[in-house]
Amino acid sequence: MIPIRGPRLSLRDFRLEDLAAYRAWRLPGHAWQELDGPYYAAESAAEIDARIDRLRQRIVAGRWPSPRSRLLIADARTDRLFGTVSWYWIGQESWWPAAGISLFDEHRWRQGLGFEALGLWVDYLFRAEPRFRRMDLETWSGNAGMMRLAETLGFTLEARHRKARQVGGLDYDSLGYGVLREEWIARYPRGFAARLREDPPTPPPPASPTPTSPTTSDPATSTPPPAAPARKDSP
Ligand SMILES: CC(C)(COP(=O)(O)OP(=O)(O)OC[C@H]1O[C@@H](n2cnc3c(N)ncnc32)[C@H](O)[C@@H]1OP(=O)(O)O)[C@@H](O)C(=O)NCCC(=O)NCCS
Repeated sequence: MIPIRGPRLSLRDFRLEDLAAYRAWRLPGHAWQELDGPYYAAESAAEIDARIDRLRQRIVAGRWPSPRSRLLIADARTDRLFGTVSWYWIGQESWWPAAGISLFDEHRWRQGLGFEALGLWVDYLFRAEPRFRRMDLETWSGNAGMMRLAETLGFTLEARHRKARQVGGLDYDSLGYGVLREEWIARYPRGFAARLREDPPTPPPPASPTPTSPTTSDPATSTPPPAAPARKDSP
């Protein structure tokens, strides 16, 4: 079952050689952090290091839970990570989970990769844990990409908590999306991977040259991102 392969990416377990890039993407200053729970305190360098240490121990021990709590999203061609998918409990007593996704590399947004990764992940979670009767996605009204992605995948907006989040001094709504197992199966009866094969994504147009930008995120040439400058509010 793992790795889970799509046309343009795979969801796979971490390896030791992924840790440097993963650590670099978690350091403050990246665009993805402005959208992914920006109302929470940023992880400190010590917390990131502790996270990486736990992950290292898990990789060395080869100790992975089923269903997996997190998989990295790797480019199908280069096998390099550019994001993660995860899940967590909203209500463990009723087997009520929520899924999460982050594409770390903003140059890969809006190309259908979130659709591919999150669809494969939700499909995996429903198959791997028959007691999940629904799957949630939690986001906020400032995250247009996540809202649209949830709707495109077939999630229903079930909860809107008005002015529950504050970002940059402004009020936003907290949003809860959900899909029932039977709704997911009805929408993707042969599985999400089959849907991707039947209805392949249109490749994005080639990126126009950007003379002012000296770097490119082409996975064939990119190296792990440099540690970006710390955000103003980071410890
Ligand atoms: C949110 C995120 C996962 C979306 O993934 P993505 O690969 O950019 O989304 P896709 O290209 O698959 O697009 C899915 C749909 O959303 C739309 N969309 C994507 N980004 C959008 C944006 N910023 N504004 C409006 N629509 C957007 C696409 O046009 C597409 O719509 P369609 O189904 O009508 O064609 C990605 O942008 C990301 O990781 N962002 C940073 C981290 C984050 O916000 N994580 C979620 C925390 S709750």
